[in-house]
Parts: sequence; C-alpha cells; structure tokens
Amino acid sequence: MADTKVYRASTTAPVNIAVVKYWGKRDPKLNLPTNSSLSVTLSQADLRTLTTASCATSFAGDSLMLNGEQSDISGARTQACFRELRARRAALEAANTSLPKLSTMGLKLVSENNFPTAAGLASSAAGFAALVQAIANLYELPDTPAQLSIVARQGSGSACRSLFGGYVAWRMGDKEDGSDSMADLVAPASHWPNMRALILVVSAAKKGVSSTSGMQQTVATSGLFQQRIANIVPANMTAMEHAVKTRDFAKFAEVTMRESNSFHACCADTYPPIFYMNDISKAAIRAVESINAKAGKTIAAYTFDAGPNCVVYYLDEEAPTVLGAFSGVLGGVTGWKEGSAGVKSSVRLEDGIASVLKDGVSRVIMTSVGEGPLRTEEYLVDENGQPAKR
Ligand code: DP6
Repeated sequence: MADTKVYRASTTAPVNIAVVKYWGKRDPKLNLPTNSSLSVTLSQADLRTLTTASCATSFAGDSLMLNGEQSDISGARTQACFRELRARRAALEAANTSLPKLSTMGLKLVSENNFPTAAGLASSAAGFAALVQAIANLYELPDTPAQLSIVARQGSGSACRSLFGGYVAWRMGDKEDGSDSMADLVAPASHWPNMRALILVVSAAKKGVSSTSGMQQTVATSGLFQQRIANIVPANMTAMEHAVKTRDFAKFAEVTMRESNSFHACCADTYPPIFYMNDISKAAIRAVESINAKAGKTIAAYTFDAGPNCVVYYLDEEAPTVLGAFSGVLGGVTGWKEGSAGVKSSVRLEDGIASVLKDGVSRVIMTSVGEGPLRTEEYLVDENGQPAKR
C-alpha cells in the first residue's frame, strides 16, 4: 500500500552572540573557519526560530517557507544540509528495511522567527540550527548535538554553536574534510545562569555587507587579521574559557570587549574598509565605559557583530545599575520588561551620549543565557501537509 502519511517534527532553536568572534574561512566550500570562537546562547523565550520539518510522498520537491514567504533553497549551503541529513537517514533505512523511506520524499519546511530577520540578530544561526535539528528529529537520527553541529556549520558557521545551550565553543579543527570542526559545550546555562544580555536595536533594516562576503574580503586583504588569527584569538579563547569556568565576569567582559574591538579593527583594516558600527554603536560603547567607570569595576560588556546593534552582557545582580543607566535615556522605546524601565541607577549617562542613543536606538531586547534546541509539539505544517493556521 502506498504511504500517504505526512511525517512531521518540530523544534525551536536559539540565537547565540559570540564573545570570541568567528571571522574568516579557511575553506569557504566546507565553511571551515580560520579560528575557533565562543558564544553565549540566548534564551528562546525572547529570541528563537520555530521550524517544522515535514515530508510525504506527495510533496513534489523540497521547499522552505520563512516568516510566511517562500525562501530560496537552491543555495549550496542549504543543499549541503539537506544532502547530509538525507544521507544519514538513508543509512538508517538501508540498515532497517522496515523504516519508512523518508529520505526519498520531498521536504516541506516552515519556519518562523519571533524577531526581525536579518536585523543583525544572528537569525541565520538560529535558522540553520532549527532547520538541521527539525530534519534530524523528523528522520529520527541518533546523532549527538556535536555531530549535528557539523551539518549546521555548513549552512552558516555561527549556526553550529546554536545546537547547544549555555556557553559554547566552536573548535576550528584541523582536518581538511571538516569532520573535527564542530561545536563543543564549555558550560551549560545552569553553570552561570545569572548572565543577562540587553540588546540595543539600532537598525532593523537589512545589513550592508553580509558576514559571508565581509569575512572573505578581510581574509584576502587585512594584514592585521593574520595577527588576530595567529595570536589574539588563541589567547582570547583560553582566557574566555577560564573566565566562564570560574564565573569571572570582569575577565569575561574584558575579553568580550577586546574581541569585539579586534574584529571591528580587522574590518576597518580590510581594503576597502568595512564599517559595521555607526555613531550610535560608538555612543553605546561610551555608555558601557561610563557605567564601568562610575561603578568602579567592570559590570557591563559590549559586543557587536556584522551590524550596528549593541549587545550588552551583565550579571543579574548588577541589573539596577546597568539597566537603569540605559532606561534612564531609552525608557520610551519598546522592549523593557515589567519594572525594568523605571529603575533608578547610580549611573547617569552624559548628555552627549544620551542624546545620540535616544535618537538612534529603536527598541531594546532584554534576555539572558538560555538552553539549546527544544523539541516541540507545535506544528507549522498541519496533518494534511498544509501550512498550519495559527
Ligand atoms: C560577526 O555565521 O553569519 O556574527 O558562515 O558565512 O554564514 P557564514 O557567517 P556567519 O558569521 C557570523 C559572524 C559574526 C561572529 C560570530 O557569530 O562568531
């Protein structure tokens, strides 16, 4: 009898924000990095991608709908993920002939972010992590998160780190086939649960130079970058892992800020130069410096990816001082959680910094360290294979 069933599985996957940055590919085809990196996985209560993977003999081909729109899946990266996951499923089917032949069916993926796509909020990381995990769930693959991270890495480098919660390293590896370039759990969220992140959304517009092309230009033209991958990053990886393991916030913060500065310095050293930070980003740096100076110790750390948004890491016990300093000037924008916009801080930001932030920050996102992908019974594809009504 023909198999008419629609098979489905769903997952959510988190965003991660690097504190030791991935910037540079040694093999663009396999998406192998020039250096290791380390990130904090952010809570899915605030930022997450929900993806349903489904398959059926009736599906004509593969498709992906993202936030209500059909997405192009013909790219080599997405195709690599599909191919790798199908091969793993096919091996299971070959070993056990009673399994339904899911590997031969068309895949229909439907995905939704709970945050603006391409706002520089690492949406490709959550997106590819969710895509890979959802298909792995659908295919009932026995692979560990580290093994799946090798597949997700081929979709988008930073995505490999979103297969784990907490504090996650991406070990660059040294094998030519990339089989040792994968994510590795440094510490679970529960190890240092009071880590918080305040995201200052400077622009929700699509970013200028994509990270994929920006990092290629840096590798090709920046002399400073050679110094970064040879010396700076290896030292920062060691220092950061130690800071996380010993919950040393001052060290964590210093390395985070130095890393962001080093990465953006390499962007400026790219020829022609690439600028991701703008005047509002620079005001956010000044604000964090001012908070730390007035507190008399390092209680906040800024970091920027390939866009102008600022992520400020701080510990929950310092929330009144850190949040209060920002909400004192940004209290009017959306995103503050219950009670946090009104807190009085001992730190008052200078008028010059305050007015730039006020004009340029459109919203804030308050979040914290969080868990890795979570399987869910919420489906974006119904039992008949149609996009679910929600
Ligand atoms: C600045 O993972 O987006 O956010 O592998 O080409 O998809 P591709 O790049 P991507 O680069 C992220 C760069 C970064 C730093 C980081 O997340 O480590």
